[in-house]
Amino acid sequence: MVYIIASGKGGTGKTALACGLSFAFAERGIRVLMIDGDTATRSLSTAMNVYESAVFDLSDVAFGTVSVAEAAISHPDYGNILVLTSPMEESSLTETCVADAVKQAKSDNLADVIIIDGPAGLGSGFRRCAMGADKGIIVATSDAISLRSADLAAAELERLGVNDLRMVVNRVSKKITGRGGMPNIDDAIDLAALPLIGYIPEDRKVITSLALGIPITKQRGSRAAASYREIAGKLERSDL
Ligand SMILES: Nc1ncnc2c1ncn2[C@@H]1O[C@H](COP(=O)(O)OP(=O)(O)O)[C@@H](O)[C@H]1O
Ligand SMILES: [Mg+2]
Repeated sequence: MVYIIASGKGGTGKTALACGLSFAFAERGIRVLMIDGDTATRSLSTAMNVYESAVFDLSDVAFGTVSVAEAAISHPDYGNILVLTSPMEESSLTETCVADAVKQAKSDNLADVIIIDGPAGLGSGFRRCAMGADKGIIVATSDAISLRSADLAAAELERLGVNDLRMVVNRVSKKITGRGGMPNIDDAIDLAALPLIGYIPEDRKVITSLALGIPITKQRGSRAAASYREIAGKLERSDL
């Protein structure tokens, strides 16, 4: 199965979710290939601690210099996670390069699940990522603007042929969950009109994990890690 992690509004936690789910899948013995679909930042490479070791990236695969198997790097702690990094320059990519990389990874049986970490915005980078995906997970934070913009991302994904969509609400604080007056999980479902697969609590350990390249699943007592594991379990039960 190939997931695109997408959002309407930027900075909602796509990379955090892509990493958290990958670690949780890996703990279950599931092999994961992550593809960095965000050319603007190197945040996935940093978060997955492959920044220094990456020699080739998606652009080298796009132009046939190397295969996905040659370009993707194993995570230093989780050998069953491969990361295909992104170049900084969008111009070095082709329209179909993500879809082509996915096809190659499938035929070479490199992974059981492929996770594409999507870019900010709904432009050409988003289309390139969507072309490789079967299913979409849309990440929103629990404010109304983010929840409504999740709908825009969903509509765009459907237009591009990715129809199986789920939503994750991220950075939910204890104060917001279940209290009257503020958007709670029920409001979130109503506002975004997308099936919710789970929510991730606000957890400072996510911030340090991403910045320092420490797997969130190695951070003792992380509430976010518990949620990533729960969502990975649900996805596995629904046939990944
Ligand atoms: N559950 C969370 N709790 C606390 N901070 C989070 C959480 N999820 C994401 N963040 C922080 O929010 C910021 C944006 O997250 P990121 O995953 O990079 O978003 P995106 O990939 O959508 O741009 C980062 O600084 C990250 O550490
Ligand atoms: Mg990101």
